Amino acid sequence: MFYRTLCNAFVVVGALLGLLASTASGLGSTCSSPLTHGSAAPGDPFWLQNIQHQGIAAFNGNPGGYPVFRNVKNYGAKGDGNTDDTAAIQAAINAGGRCGQGCDSTTTQPALVYFPPGTYKVSSPLVVLYQTQLIGDAKNLPTLLAAPNFSGIALIDADPYLAGGAQYYVNQNNFFRSVRNFVIDLRQVSGSATGIHWQVSQATSLINIVFQMSTAAGNQHQGIFMENGSGGFLGDLVFNGGNIGATFGNQQFTVRNLTFNNANTAINAIWNWGWTFQRITINNCQVGFDLTQGGTSNTGAQGVGAEAIIDAVVTNTQTFVRWSGASSGHLQGSLVLNNIQLTNVPVAVGVKGGPTVLAGGTTTINSWAQGNVYHGTNGNPTFTQGNIANINRPGVLLDSTGRIVSKSHPQYTGYAPSDFVSVRSQGAKGDGHTDDTQAIKNVFAKYAGCKIIFFDAGTYIVTDTIQIPAGTQIVGEVWSVIMGTGSKFTDYNNPQPVIQVGAPGSSGVVEITDMIFTTRGPAAGAIIVEWNVHDPSGQQAAAGAWDTHLIIGGTAQSGLQVGQCPTSGAGGNNCFADFLGLHLTSGSSAYLEGMWVWLADHDLDSGGSQQISLWSNGGIMSESQGPVWLIGTASEHHINYQYFLKNAANHYIGLAQTETPYFQPNPNPPAPFITNSNFDPSQLGQGDAWAMTVQNSHGILVFGAGFYSFFSAYNTGCQSPQNCQNQIVNVDSSSDIAFYSLTTVDTTWQFSVNAQGVINRSNNPNGFADTITAWTRN
Ligand SMILES: *[C@@H]1O[C@H](CO)[C@@H](O)[C@H](O)[C@H]1NC(C)=O
Ligand SMILES: *[C@@H]1O[C@H](CO)[C@@H](O)[C@H](O)[C@H]1NC(C)=O
Ligand SMILES: *[C@@H]1O[C@H](CO)[C@@H](O)[C@H](O)[C@H]1NC(C)=O
Ligand SMILES: *[C@@H]1O[C@H](CO)[C@@H](O)[C@H](O)[C@H]1NC(C)=O
Repeated sequence: MFYRTLCNAFVVVGALLGLLASTASGLGSTCSSPLTHGSAAPGDPFWLQNIQHQGIAAFNGNPGGYPVFRNVKNYGAKGDGNTDDTAAIQAAINAGGRCGQGCDSTTTQPALVYFPPGTYKVSSPLVVLYQTQLIGDAKNLPTLLAAPNFSGIALIDADPYLAGGAQYYVNQNNFFRSVRNFVIDLRQVSGSATGIHWQVSQATSLINIVFQMSTAAGNQHQGIFMENGSGGFLGDLVFNGGNIGATFGNQQFTVRNLTFNNANTAINAIWNWGWTFQRITINNCQVGFDLTQGGTSNTGAQGVGAEAIIDAVVTNTQTFVRWSGASSGHLQGSLVLNNIQLTNVPVAVGVKGGPTVLAGGTTTINSWAQGNVYHGTNGNPTFTQGNIANINRPGVLLDSTGRIVSKSHPQYTGYAPSDFVSVRSQGAKGDGHTDDTQAIKNVFAKYAGCKIIFFDAGTYIVTDTIQIPAGTQIVGEVWSVIMGTGSKFTDYNNPQPVIQVGAPGSSGVVEITDMIFTTRGPAAGAIIVEWNVHDPSGQQAAAGAWDTHLIIGGTAQSGLQVGQCPTSGAGGNNCFADFLGLHLTSGSSAYLEGMWVWLADHDLDSGGSQQISLWSNGGIMSESQGPVWLIGTASEHHINYQYFLKNAANHYIGLAQTETPYFQPNPNPPAPFITNSNFDPSQLGQGDAWAMTVQNSHGILVFGAGFYSFFSAYNTGCQSPQNCQNQIVNVDSSSDIAFYSLTTVDTTWQFSVNAQGVINRSNNPNGFADTITAWTRN
């Protein structure tokens, strides 16, 4: 209350002293002190339940009648623990005409399905359709209770199988899904049962879920089943009991903060190209990581390719990591362990039915690897199955416990609806055609720091730079969209930000969740997000974004769809989608978790994923001195680079995922742009974009990367000789840079120094992909 009064008083003063709002102090708004405490009473429901629901799907055929927000109780769910709520919950998900079987994908049918506290009995799978979030009350988690006669693949199913093995969605294109704040209880099922079938790709997350499973000997419960896809992020999950906590098979994924208690096997990995696990806790299990489907070869089936595990804590567990038998001299899957604390764990790494590779006990494993280790410009690998030189972790990246900083998606459980201000209530339309620039500027000027800014679902058109002042918290609704367009953003010789996060030189809290930032083309001069804000002294990861994406083109009314920009290139200059996705400027710090910077390779609203040719100069460029945490980020299809670190320092990056544009080398980069020395690396790729290029930087820890090149001029013929691209990662002579668990696909030289290929993929086959277990400068 105290804050509120002050804020109102300052609005008046601020209006008179308009200058205040744009000083370099970075406060940006007229708010005297940040809103640091919510006003919800302990017994109040989660704010999301009762905030005014006025989100719209701007490009839906019937925006006036289509409900974005659905409370399952309004569709007949009882949540009383007795009634079978399956049909009612599914009705809430399906209402309004949704993208289900045969639809492929959409950007016009978003749904936020909300569950008040209660116990919802479920007897068959809840199909979580495309572009859906299932969100429970974050203060008092609702329970999804499997009925004793539950039958089906899992309680929640993100990609149902049809008879004959076909599925609703293409697993590698299964975007835009999130499930948060639930207890999933399987304990009434006496046979086998699974909590979530999560066969998904980018822009997906699982957050804050507790799986309750049987602890009886011989039980057949499993928390998550994932067998395919191209993810993704998941984190803050607790698995109690079960035969298997989670089965994981997917090209790549980033996982943070999972706890497994009393399972037989915590993690059962079935295949991958590369995963990063940060801060896993395992208590009282038989096996922590079962990787016995490793042992891949270039000709054999794909097993577990690469696992990178950092900051794990394992207690009272027989075996931490279990592999299948080693075959001499042959890379048997890649494993990197860093800062693993074991307490009463007899075997740290062992072979199933065979020898102990690394003894456990009560000890800390600092830096250990299995796989090919490289140094500097020496292209000869050293196959290692043992300790490696200590992995350098710059201190500013670590929390008070010495682990890489971890910050969960903020959900504001202590806040009441009155602590939020709706941009729609303040006059922004979000209808996909009204110019909302001034309305949004007014909201930030008046409320940044005083209220949490709620972007009701919609597409907000802006024609000038929108500054999000330091001190601002923004919450979207199933990915509310801010779309920059117009003459301000057309000159690639003078690119301008659509969104500016903090004024240059500012510091303060910024939290952005569930938003999409994009353009309506052509927008050759748009920097979609320029990130300037820095954490205030002593507040790690205060400036961050979670479940927030840059989805560039390929969406309804983006002007960058198959009709305008077919693969023939006939779209010409109209297909410049942006200049740069995300720019972390030199004064910034950032914690970005679950962010996809996607220049679309196909049209999500065309039916059948039709390919398109769009142009963007670069994906993510960082000049930040840090600290920067990029946890589960991806950048795809940009012309010159996906990630460019220039004069940067103190970055933790894990896992980073990229794809090169499918049309390259036609045209050859930088075409169709011209080189811009402020934004482009001094060494360009040769015919293809860099997945990552690092220039004059230090303190860079890449802990898990998946850099892929599947095409040459739209042709996949290069996949068989595995030479779709010549070089893909480049570093100059910068010091203190290291890559661990670096997987590439169909690239001749996996690693280059000063644009000279150093590491030939022929030494590193690892199933479909190739893996470098470690590269360090010295
Ligand atoms: C489970 O039992 C409930 C209540 O007896 C019944 O309505 C439902 O159809 C059953 N479901 C299955 C999958 O057998
Ligand atoms: C899906 O996963 C299964 C099991 O690992 C594998 O056999 C199959 O080839 C995968 N399908 C696709 C389309 O990737
Ligand atoms: C890990 O996740 C659990 C469950 O959501 C949460 O209670 C805990 O605070 C998280 N810890 C960290 C370090 O994020
Ligand atoms: C990579 O190594 C293989 C095997 O030695 C060799 O045949 C190939 O020519 C090398 N590639 C390059 C680009 O040097």
